[in-house]
This record gives sequence, C-alpha cells and structure tokens, in this order.
Amino acid sequence: MSSRSDGVFYLTTPIYYINAPPHLGHAYTTIVADAMARYRRLGGDDVHFLTGTDEHGDKIAQAAQKAGVAPQVLADRNSKAFRDEWDALGITYDDFIRTTEPRHAKVVQAILQALFDKDEIYFGKYGGQYCYGCERFYTEKEIVDGKCPDHQTPLVYIEEENYFFRMSAYQDWLRRYLEDHPEVVQPDRFRNELLGFLREPLQDLSISRPKSRLQWGIPLPFDDRFVTYVWFDALLNYVSALGDPGDPRFERYWPRVQHLIGKDILKPHGIYWPCMLKAAGLLRDEATDPAALPGFARLRVHGYWTLGGGKISKSVGNVVEALALTRKYGNDAFRYFILREMPFGQDANFSEEALVERLNADLANDLGNLVSRATTMIVNFSAQTAGAAPTSEAADDAIRTLVGEAGRAVEAAMAEFAFQRALVEIWSFIGAVNRYVDAARPWALAKDLAQQGRLAAVLATLGAALRYLGIVLEPFVPDAAARIRAAVGDARPPALGNTVAEPGADPRAVQRLSGLFPRVDTKASAAAAGPSAAAAPVEGATARITIDDFKRVDLRVAEIVAAEPVPKSKKLLKLTIRLGEESRTLVAGIAEHYRPDALVGRKVVVVANLEPATLMGVTSNGMVLAGSAGETLALLALDRDLPSGAKVR
Ligand code: MSP
Repeated sequence: MSSRSDGVFYLTTPIYYINAPPHLGHAYTTIVADAMARYRRLGGDDVHFLTGTDEHGDKIAQAAQKAGVAPQVLADRNSKAFRDEWDALGITYDDFIRTTEPRHAKVVQAILQALFDKDEIYFGKYGGQYCYGCERFYTEKEIVDGKCPDHQTPLVYIEEENYFFRMSAYQDWLRRYLEDHPEVVQPDRFRNELLGFLREPLQDLSISRPKSRLQWGIPLPFDDRFVTYVWFDALLNYVSALGDPGDPRFERYWPRVQHLIGKDILKPHGIYWPCMLKAAGLLRDEATDPAALPGFARLRVHGYWTLGGGKISKSVGNVVEALALTRKYGNDAFRYFILREMPFGQDANFSEEALVERLNADLANDLGNLVSRATTMIVNFSAQTAGAAPTSEAADDAIRTLVGEAGRAVEAAMAEFAFQRALVEIWSFIGAVNRYVDAARPWALAKDLAQQGRLAAVLATLGAALRYLGIVLEPFVPDAAARIRAAVGDARPPALGNTVAEPGADPRAVQRLSGLFPRVDTKASAAAAGPSAAAAPVEGATARITIDDFKRVDLRVAEIVAAEPVPKSKKLLKLTIRLGEESRTLVAGIAEHYRPDALVGRKVVVVANLEPATLMGVTSNGMVLAGSAGETLALLALDRDLPSGAKVR
C-alpha cells in the first residue's frame, strides 16, 4: 500500500464532543495524528494537521442545561480544555476548528444551500418510534421488546417534518467506489464492514432538527425553523477549516486529505461523508483531479482502548485518570506506551502496570542506558583519541548499514500507519547498538595505547547512531529526541535527510546525558521487567544483588538433543537437553523465534536448579536463557565450544 503524499499531507482527527473532558481515547487519536504529522514533516512534507471540537447538538445542549449555563459558555470552557490538553501534550496541530466559529457556519450554510438548489435536499415527513429520553428515533432493528434499549421505556410513534439528503441515490455508487478503491478505508476489515452496511438499503438522511426540539445548531439557510443535524454540521469541519473551494489552502490540502478516526464513528465517515462529498462536488478522485490521492478522503480507522479488559466508554472517570498518567510519567512515556502497545486498527488494553513495564524496559533500559553510556564514553575518551586515525571494522559499517535499513523499515511501517511496527524497528536498531557496544568494549580499548585508532572509530560510530536516534525518535518521543540531539550537539532542525551520509560530528560538542528516562521502581514493574531487562547487559538494569545471590543460580552449558512443538501451543517448544551425563526435559517459549530442527545440536545456557513447572501439560526442568529486544529474541550461545554440563558463572 502506498501513502503517495508527494510532499503534501492533510491529516485530520475527529472533532471531539465537548460535553466530557478530554480522555485517553481522544488523546490516542490525537497523539497518533501528531506522530504521523511529525514524521511526515521530518521527511520534508508540507503537512497540515487539523483537530478541533464538535460543539452543537443534543448532547451539548443537555450537558449545558445540566450545568446550568448557556451552551456557548459550556462550549467555550470545554473547548479550551481540549486545546490546553493538546498544548500540554505537545501536539503540533496547525489548526484547531470549533463548529461554533463563523468560518465554519458560513461553509456549512453555503454547502446546504448548494445542495438544496440542486435538489439533493428535500422537505419530507418522517414517522417513527421516538424516545423522548434520547431525543431520537429508533429503527425497527434497534428496538428491544418495543422499548428504548437505553432507557427501557416504551417508544412513542411520532411524525416529524424535516429536511432530507437524498443519500439513498448514492448507494450503488458508494459500493462500487469502496470496491474499486481498497485503499480508501484501512485496515481492510473496516471497509468490509462498510460494504456490509451497504448490503441493506440505504435510507435518506435527515439533516435537520426542528427548533421546537433543538435550538443549539446552525440554522438551515433556506428555512430558519430548523437547525442542522449535528453530524452533517460536524463532518464539514474538514472542509470549512481550509476555507472555501478556491481558497489556496483548500486547493493545496484538500486533495490530500486523510482522516484518522476511531471505529465508533466509521459509519458517518464511511457512508454519510463520501455521499455528501459526491453530492456537493467535493469528492476529488484521480479521475477529476490528478493531484488527488487515489481513493480520495481516506479513512484510517483505529480500535478501542479498554481498561481492565472492559469497554471504557461508560466509565469516563477512568479514562480521564488514564490520561492524567502523562503528568505522572511524562508525555514521552505515555506517547511511547500507547503507540507501542496498540497495533493500529485493533483494540488494546490500557494499564498503568503495562505502561511502567515499557517505561522501565524499553525507555529506561534499552534507550536510556544506551544514551547514557555512549555519551559518557564519548565525553571521557574522545580527548585521548585526538590525532589517532580511526580504524574502522566491519562492525562499524554494519551499524551504519543498519541506520539505512531501519530508516527504510520505519518508512514502510509509517506508510501503513503501523506505529507499533515502526517502534519495533527502531528498538531493534537500539538493541543492535547496545550489542555493538558490548562487543567493541570501548572501556577496554581506552586502556590500551595501541588501540586508540580503533577506539576513535567506535566512538564515531556511536556518535552517528545517537545522532540518528535523535532524529528518528522525534515523532514518537519528541522531548527525549530533542535532548539526544542537544547532547550530541546537533542543532539543526530535525530532518530524516540529516541522517544520510552524516559526516563524523565533532566529539567535543557531545555532552553526557544520563537519566533520560528514570526508572520507576514499583513491585509490579520489578517483577515484570524480567525478559526485557535481560535484553542488553546495561548499567542499572535491575536492583543490585550480591555475588552470593548470583551464586545461588546454577547456570550450565547444555546441548539440545531433541526439540518439538508443545501441542496446542503457539509459543512453547519441548526440548530434550543433555547436561553432562544427565538428560532432561525443558519447555521454552521460543517457538515463534526458532524452528525445532534448527535447534538440535546447539549448545545453550540453562538455569539448572529451577523449581520444576508444568506448562501446557509438559513438566519443565530448568530454563533456557535468551535475550529479547522488541520482537527479537536470541538464545545465549558460547563463542567457543565447552562440554555440556560445564558451569557458567
Ligand atoms: N464529535 C464526534 C466526531 C465528529 S468528527 C466529524 C465524536 N466525538 S467524541 O468526542 O465522541 O470522540 C470520538 C473519538 O474519540 C473516537 O472516534 C476516537 O477517535 C476517540 N475515542 C474515544 N474513546 C475511545 C477509546 N476508548 N479508544 C480509542 N479511541 C476512542 O464522536
């Protein structure tokens, strides 16, 4: 899938209802959009990033009534709360639209008038089952035992005169449009969901509400006894924020629009919106406008955050608290967690424990320690290498090659809005640099006068790796990335182009940067940090233990003599190992990383004195040691042969 943006990129979030304060769900969409906007700007694109608030309609009118204030007062207060929250989170929106602004009402009324003049809108009567509590009609399918599913009260048949948009006329066109343009709605299963809706007859859309029932809305330009239905009003924000057709901003950005939304608002965006655009002559496809993205007005649909596995929409308090964790752990840690945890398009569960676990393992350990030890060594050892000609080795070139490879992998992931994958790629690079430091041992080179050329090359490689990280991390952890750039003396505005063929920067400009992400010590995180903490032997990974503590662990070399999958398990392999004369069975969670036949004959390191445990019906007598970073897992191996059973210490 291509993201062909040719340098121009218009990205929108939903405009949020202002009857509730900003919470985790709103923050997720906005942060995702921000990460994308920052990434595209980093690549040199001209990005226009729009967010805002949806301020009309029943919901708001009711909330204002409850609060005892005029709707506009509530709207002003709560819209500001959203804006303040985004500013506190460092969201780099280019425009913030409010549907109560005159610039918006003007465009909505102009489009309504144009549609009315073209006979796309007609006056008609609608009769249906109405719930006074919800202030809306219910369709036959939604009614449960003749009652409102929300209020459990009997519905009343009422007839109401309203204006209708001839949406039904677009049913066949829309079905074909979605079939012909798979890229319009991503991930694919949401397009299928829309095609599913379109198998049922599409009704015309009531686009007005009589003022006798609701006053809080944009008056219809052709009949001021009515206000505009809130969705018809709200969707048009994406157009009104750019001005009218003809406005240079509109002409530049509109053909490149991509809408980020949660799956809850798929139907208005995937059905009403394209029909509205088609009717209004605003649908720019490649046939009518060569500058348009193929499959115009793309929808990028994400899943839902749950808390403790349950739906969170009903418990707004918790989602607000979840967002407040940004104050406790910092914007970067929060951003990193939600971008890394939720595969775009799927649901994910939010928990503070999981956030702390990622903060400790990925940010404090993998990234923070790398930055700390690399900057420390550059600062401490650079002076002594002055004048030594750097002696490069293959390992240095390998790191430079990895910069290019990681860059391409991140680009491919971002083209698909796969934020999680982009981060996995960056963390696999961080893992490789951590291993490079362990192997190159600059601290040992520093003690050997004959090795100063080699030391110079290693320090230069580390400097280049850090400069790359200071740039590529900017969309994801912007504050940390800025600190890394400052530490390596990179004062240029960050740009992906800066990472290519970077000449060795002046090591004298480097400053020590430690504590980029201080570790959070909680019992839960200490217990859970296990496998990730083992990823790289970095400073300060876990609480210190005494040598006697360590000696209690019986580590041995073992030979794998047989390996087979554990039935019904995706992750587990059953291994038979030889420990000197003894043969043992062991279960290892490595099936997703190693084929059984590739393991036979290998020497590994095991914990030999672990209490036996039964996993999926197989009793395991020990544990194989492996490290992991992101999605990569690696078994510990020996760099020269030792007999099985040999002690490891
Ligand atoms: N005002 C409409 C949107 C109009 S757009 C023209 C609206 N507003 S909302 O305040 O309810 O925000 C809904 C959006 O917030 C979702 O589409 C999603 O982007 C985000 N989220 C709200 N709760 C969420 C979760 N629990 N999880 C993830 N995101 C969710 O609908």
